[in-house]
Parts: sequence; C-alpha cells; structure tokens
Amino acid sequence: MSTYSAPGRVNLIGEHTDYTGGLVLPMAIEFETRATIKSTDDGLLHLTARNFNETASYDLAAYPMKGRHHWSDYPVGVIGLLRQRGVPVTGLQLELEGDVPPNAGLSSSASVEVATAIAVLQNAKVAIPPAEIATLCQAAENNFVGGACGIMDQFVSVNGTAGHALLLDCRSLEYELLELPESISVVICNSMVKHEVAHGEYGDRRGEVEAGQSALVSVVPHIKQLRDATLDDLESARASMSPESFARCRHIITENARVLEAREALQTGDIARFGQLMYAAHASFRDDFAASCHEVDVLVELARDLPGCFGARITGGGFGGCTVNLVAHAHAAAFKESLIARYQEKTGIVAECYVSRASDGAIARLR
Ligand code: GLA
Repeated sequence: MSTYSAPGRVNLIGEHTDYTGGLVLPMAIEFETRATIKSTDDGLLHLTARNFNETASYDLAAYPMKGRHHWSDYPVGVIGLLRQRGVPVTGLQLELEGDVPPNAGLSSSASVEVATAIAVLQNAKVAIPPAEIATLCQAAENNFVGGACGIMDQFVSVNGTAGHALLLDCRSLEYELLELPESISVVICNSMVKHEVAHGEYGDRRGEVEAGQSALVSVVPHIKQLRDATLDDLESARASMSPESFARCRHIITENARVLEAREALQTGDIARFGQLMYAAHASFRDDFAASCHEVDVLVELARDLPGCFGARITGGGFGGCTVNLVAHAHAAAFKESLIARYQEKTGIVAECYVSRASDGAIARLR
C-alpha cells in the first residue's frame, strides 16, 4: 500500500478565463485528497471513499463509458483514460479520503482526479508529462463525469509549488511561478452557499461566453479565441451577439488584463495594487458575469472594512462558494473572527474560514 496526495486550489484572480484560452492565477492549498493504492490480480477495481464510508466495485472487463452521478465517477473516469493511454491495470484497491470542503469552489473534484491519476501512475511505474496528467484529468471530468470545467483546477493541483501562485496561460499551458510575500495570509471564507460545477449555471455562463466568442471570431478575422480580443474588438461585434454574451465577454477581456497587472503587482511587491485588482475582479464577476450571489457579495463588502485586508473577491466557478482575501499576516486571526461574526449578523449563516499557505502540487509532493 502506498499513499499519494493532491491538493485543492484557490484562485487569486482570473475567473472563467480558462476555457477561452485565457490567463489564471491560482495557488494550491493545504486541503488535499489522499489516495492509497494496491495492485490486485482479480480484474476488479475496488474503490473506497473513506469520507462517506462507502465502497464501489467495477469489473475492468466491462468498464463503463459514462459516469452514473456517483462519487466513484471521478476515479473511474481517470482510470479509464489512463488505461486507454496504455497504463497497465490488472486490478486495484484504491482508497480515497480528504479534507477539501466539497461544493465550495476549492476543487475537491480536481484533487480526487489528480490524486487518483498520480497513485495509478506511480503504482504502475509509468511517467507521463505533468501537463498531460492535468489534461487527462480534465478530460475525465468533461467526458466521463459530465462537468464542463476548464484546465485551471487540475493544472495547479498537479503543478502547484509551495509559497507560490501559478500564472497559467491556458492556451499554451506555459506557466510561471510567482512568489507570494510571507507577510500576507490568504484567508478563504466559505459562504456556505452551495457550488457545483457539474450542474446548471456554470454551463449556462460558459454557453453565453462561447456564443460571444463565436460571434467575435466570425466578425474579427485575427481572433481565434476570446483571449485575442480587445474591448474595441468586442464593441465591433456587439450587434452579432446577445447583450448577455457581450457582458460576459467584457468580463473575460478585462479579467485577462487584470491577471497581467496582478502579476506585475506581485513582481514589484505592490500588494495594495493586487488587492485593488481583486476588488475590481469581483465587481466585474458580479456585474458583467452575473455569477456572484448576495451572500458572497456581503462577504466581500464586509472584508473591505476590516483592518489589514488588501483585497477580496469570489473565487471559483461562482454562484456561491468561497471568497479569497489577502490579509496582512498580523491581522489574519482577528480578520477571520470578525468576518465570521459580521457575516452571521447580516445573513444568519455561520461561515467557515480557512487560512492557507500556498502548498505543493501533486508532483512536488513526490520529491
Ligand atoms: C471552475 C472550473 C474551472 C474554472 C473556474 C472559473 O473551478 O473547474 O475550470 O473555469 O470554475 O474560473
């Protein structure tokens, strides 16, 4: 039996930009999924989810082609694609357990997929390039589980590095690690409003974005993806798209620009500037992308008034989930306490807050 782990993530800035070839700036967090693995020769896949105290078995000779809306879809989808890629599996016992809060926008699913992939690859003594591990996990989620996610979550869960945020170009999959200052704490606050990528609104927004992108591509010849567009390009295609698509695309174009500015802010140690970009990103997500919710907006506004807070915004797919807050280390504990108390006063909901350091991704954990 050997155990491998893969982290969840929090996105600092760059939201809903990944599936149109854009820029994102997430970091891996300390919450993780652990996968304990052992080979068997019985031609079966024995899966255990320690968190639910449940098991599931699959016959490798009659492998399913589609998920069945069950926790086992994530490992089954990943193992299916690894086998298609030639990774030998004669039978496995795989136990999963973890502490990434589910449905909070912290990528619990990506951490399950990546932990599974790393465990199976290590167990079979097969190496594939890290970027391909991420795209394989994303493909399992897109095609087997049925969640229309982009590449961000799986990529940072594989490639994250302690103490650093990861700036990913989602078109080329080139990335750059940006050191985070020691004096800053990343406080994640869970609104406790449910978030689920596999259902509903995420897909609706993605549809609106992709419709806008298609309109842009047909009106402006040099544009291949939304990533290539300026606000002027968008304006020139306004008549070819719905007002909703126009607003969603405006969020994405301005968000890609904010990620680049955020990178510069980190490189020059200008955390105040970084924080202002987070507030601007939140406003764009709320107004143009229309994917925030009342409770999350309350959390961001409350954070703004608290001592030591540089910036706050929603993080992840939207419609609930968590905010991410950059807070001076010395203020972090008091910030957390006040935010929980004030949020409860305003909404009646008891939020959960976690202070996390940027952690290693699954590959760095192997060393
Ligand atoms: C979810 C998806 C990601 C990304 C974000 C929004 O977390 O899994 O691929 O699209 O939403 O930035």
